[in-house]
Amino acid sequence: MPGSATLRWLIAASTLACLRAGNTYAQPSPKVQERISAAIKAVQANSTDIDYTAFVNPFIGTDNEGDVCPGASVPFGMVKFSTDFTGYAPAGYIVDPTQKIRGISPLHDSGTGSSLGTYGNFEIMPLLCPGGFDTCQTTLLARERFRKNSTDDAYPGYFSQTMDNEIKMEATSTRRAGLERFTFPKGSKPYFVLDLANDLPASFAGGSMDIDPDRGRITLGGHWGSSFGPVSYHYQAFACYDLLDNGKQKLSEYGVWTGDTYGLDAKGLGQTHLNLSQNLFGGVPYQSGALFSYDGQPEQVTIRVGVSFVSTDQACANAESEVGTTTFEGIVNASKALWNEKLSKIEIDVANTPELVTEMLYSSLYRASLTPNNATLETQGAFANTTSFYFDSLYCSWDTFRTFYPLMTLHSPVEFAQIVDNYIDGWRKNGWMPECRANNLPGWTQGGSSGDNIVSQFAVNYHNEASELGIDLHELYAALKTDGEVNPPEWNTEGRQVNVYKKYGYVPFAVLDTGSTGRQTREGSRTLEYAFEDFGIRQVAQLLGNADDLVTYTNRSYWYRNVWDPSVHSDGFKGFMQKRYSNGTFFYTDPVHCSPKDSNQTRECSLQADNTNGFYESSSWEYSWYAPHDMAYLIKLMGGNETFISRLDHFFDAGYYLSGNEPSFQTPIGYHYANQPARSVDRVRDVVLTNFNATPAGLPGNDDQAAMATLLSFHLLGLYPVPSSTHYLIVSPFVPKYTIHNSYLNVSTTVTVQNYDPKSVNYPIPNGVSAYVKSVTINGKPAASRCYVDFYDTFRAGGDIVLELTDDKNGANDCGGPVPESLSTGGFAKAR
Ligand SMILES: *[C@@H]1O[C@H](CO)[C@@H](O)[C@H](O)[C@H]1NC(C)=O
Ligand SMILES: *[C@@H]1O[C@H](CO)[C@@H](O)[C@H](O)[C@H]1NC(C)=O
Ligand SMILES: *[C@@H]1O[C@H](CO)[C@@H](O)[C@H](O)[C@H]1NC(C)=O
Ligand SMILES: *[C@@H]1O[C@H](CO)[C@@H](O)[C@H](O)[C@H]1NC(C)=O
Ligand SMILES: *[C@@H]1O[C@H](CO)[C@@H](O)[C@H](O)[C@H]1NC(C)=O
Ligand SMILES: *[C@@H]1O[C@H](CO)[C@@H](O)[C@H](O)[C@H]1NC(C)=O
Ligand SMILES: *[C@@H]1O[C@H](CO)[C@@H](O)[C@H](O)[C@H]1NC(C)=O
Ligand SMILES: *[C@@H]1O[C@H](CO)[C@@H](O)[C@H](O)[C@H]1NC(C)=O
Ligand SMILES: *[C@@H]1O[C@H](CO)[C@@H](O)[C@H](O)[C@H]1NC(C)=O
Ligand SMILES: *[C@@H]1O[C@H](CO)[C@@H](O)[C@H](O)[C@H]1NC(C)=O
Ligand SMILES: *[C@@H]1O[C@H](CO)[C@@H](O)[C@H](O)[C@H]1NC(C)=O
Repeated sequence: MPGSATLRWLIAASTLACLRAGNTYAQPSPKVQERISAAIKAVQANSTDIDYTAFVNPFIGTDNEGDVCPGASVPFGMVKFSTDFTGYAPAGYIVDPTQKIRGISPLHDSGTGSSLGTYGNFEIMPLLCPGGFDTCQTTLLARERFRKNSTDDAYPGYFSQTMDNEIKMEATSTRRAGLERFTFPKGSKPYFVLDLANDLPASFAGGSMDIDPDRGRITLGGHWGSSFGPVSYHYQAFACYDLLDNGKQKLSEYGVWTGDTYGLDAKGLGQTHLNLSQNLFGGVPYQSGALFSYDGQPEQVTIRVGVSFVSTDQACANAESEVGTTTFEGIVNASKALWNEKLSKIEIDVANTPELVTEMLYSSLYRASLTPNNATLETQGAFANTTSFYFDSLYCSWDTFRTFYPLMTLHSPVEFAQIVDNYIDGWRKNGWMPECRANNLPGWTQGGSSGDNIVSQFAVNYHNEASELGIDLHELYAALKTDGEVNPPEWNTEGRQVNVYKKYGYVPFAVLDTGSTGRQTREGSRTLEYAFEDFGIRQVAQLLGNADDLVTYTNRSYWYRNVWDPSVHSDGFKGFMQKRYSNGTFFYTDPVHCSPKDSNQTRECSLQADNTNGFYESSSWEYSWYAPHDMAYLIKLMGGNETFISRLDHFFDAGYYLSGNEPSFQTPIGYHYANQPARSVDRVRDVVLTNFNATPAGLPGNDDQAAMATLLSFHLLGLYPVPSSTHYLIVSPFVPKYTIHNSYLNVSTTVTVQNYDPKSVNYPIPNGVSAYVKSVTINGKPAASRCYVDFYDTFRAGGDIVLELTDDKNGANDCGGPVPESLSTGGFAKAR
């Protein structure tokens, strides 16, 4: 959860969510859920021509600091139209009825935790000004309004909201443009304030605006600061507002305004130009923008919006080419068609699946294609005019490598290749692959260069197609090697502190580093992540037959062991990851610190300089499970299978597990590695049903650009990925049957779950209900293990996978063959 509120906030919010569960919300409109339920029931009765968008609830994650943007977007859209609220609302929108709207704006991120919000640029607010132009409330504070309860609505491609003054706002979009439609109460004159300066975090660094009253066009743009990176970095953005709806509407008054919180409220009727530089005496935002009204009393006003990161000309051209004269309904339909193409890549047996599961799955798959934002041909700075694909908001790779890209691997190699191209291009232009790009700028790194695990995931699964997909594997490997070998002078925003890491075999605490700087924290978790990043590099070295590097990086993959302090005790368990001085002495941190059970509510646990814990957003209890590529050895370190299992049970029972935190993602399936897969089945049921649901508070915290959405998708499909490998662990599906289509490989794979019982979607799973995997067959042949499969044998090849379930938990509580692979016991021995 990058940059989110601190861990403290997350915990507080989770508690709140529990209290609220089951309560009715003021938002969204009850018709959202009614419509989804009706659509699922209709398909249960007759499943021809399924409209998958009808199952999506865009409001899941708009409360409880899920930071999800429910706005109108196409898949990977750069535009995500949503209203912007007061209060903690990084994505603009939140359901909280005590917060007020300041307008609707076209650029947003979804599921990122920048505390002050981001991308509220070019916000427009419809107003009623019965006293005329000079009386309009233009400033942020003056114009904010409550909405009308229980009226917010959204589905893929559409967003709407009604304010307590009965003005309704609707929006629909293309990749870089869209339409806004406003309905005013009968007999009122429509006024609009368009904001030049506001972006949410109040980081305006200068810009300009021009009104062309004859064309009915306002162009504006400027520079703003990073929402999750060094404050000295700025990005540029531009917009083009066409006000006349292809000649169907006529402007009345127009002009400019400036304002602040302390009395400045100046308006210039008839003026058409603003050009304002950054106000260096910061603190109070200096506000500015346009104000205009329409002739007559039209009940409905449609405004076309184009955006660009290049220029106002390009913003206008985007609106012309992507929207043109198409109607609002036409754009909604086109957007829905694009969404159906994405959502139908995974089809389930809706008729026999519990309604809640269908809604949670398709809402998650929706968010799995909502970000990162495709800003191809909209590049700036070092990326200006790049010939590569370009994606904004990689926020952060530390969040997304674990589940987001492994899900994309199953069905979307073309999109995956474009994003990999973009990572490699980051290395070409900036020297290292991007870790946490935010607002087109390098943002703070979390664990090192997690992009390594993303591009290696692609390489090991699609090396046969890489070149056809536009990826040069040797260049990909060169990018990996730079991350692994070359220390950036400043490693806060890209790369890793590899100089000292290579010298000591871990990232030492309080070490003399004469060649680079960065925030001196997270030494324990950085070591663990660096080692797994090295595993990613090792996997590609093996694939490319680079024998020397294979030895080096296999060795470095084991360096997670170097921060294991066998002498630390907690709750009767022995051995924990700890940060360590360069002389080898460990620095003791109580493993409970920064866990949900930490009694010290003021301890810093995130990117703060005074996070002395050694771990990022986690406790040592939590991060000590982290060696996804070598669990067999971790089991040994922890004292063998039995101790490992009782330690896992204790971890959950004692409340150290943090469902919304990425390092905890794989922990519930840890039992597989100790050959007790039935326990993972129970644990995942608990995790899903305790922490996720289909309400706005249905996510345990920040979606982290669909890291959580894709985690939930895997849990519902009964799979769990090992990143940077070709392996998927088999858990137990919440659905009776699903088909994954890979239209690039021209294959479809159907997983049929024999003895599926919807009563298994419960925790605890009732006695006598089948939920545990008894056998796995792949295209008629028994699988070698019932605990994991290889992509090359299954979803890459296509065909049929049959999982037979049983209620005999003890009988199914072993892998019936090999446990999932570990490096030190001969696993991952050759590339597929
Ligand atoms: C199912 O729906 C399709 C298309 O809407 C229709 O043609 C068909 O007759 C329906 N089948 C049943 C059994 O109602
Ligand atoms: C909206 O709902 C909230 C919470 O239920 C309530 O406090 C508020 O008064 C309602 N607002 C209106 C305008 O009805
Ligand atoms: C805005 O003013 C600056 C000087 O203050 C000038 O350099 C710039 O060209 C102006 N920009 C526009 C778009 O008018
Ligand atoms: C949009 O789709 C609906 C439902 O399929 C259809 O009735 C309508 O004619 C379409 N409208 C446009 C403008 O394409
Ligand atoms: C990008 O290309 C455009 C159009 O050819 C050109 O005007 C602009 O200067 C180029 N920008 C950079 C940074 O090369
Ligand atoms: C991104 O946009 C480019 C340019 O329109 C397009 O070619 C590409 O397919 C898009 N990629 C995704 C993943 O949406
Ligand atoms: C890794 O290499 C170091 C230095 O050569 C060696 O001491 C260590 O034993 C190796 N570790 C493993 C796990 O092979
Ligand atoms: C290692 O360095 C730390 C910090 O200076 C010190 O407290 C510790 O005693 C040293 N350990 C050894 C074995 O010298
Ligand atoms: C809680 O943590 C803070 C920050 O580390 C520390 O300053 C404070 O002393 C701690 N309080 C207690 C009661 O341990
Ligand atoms: C744990 O169990 C597995 C599977 O039965 C076995 O291969 C492995 O050796 C055991 N590990 C330890 C440390 O005993
Ligand atoms: C998939 O099918 C399409 C059209 O039939 C064909 O052009 C393409 O080469 C096929 N791709 C693969 C990987 O077989």
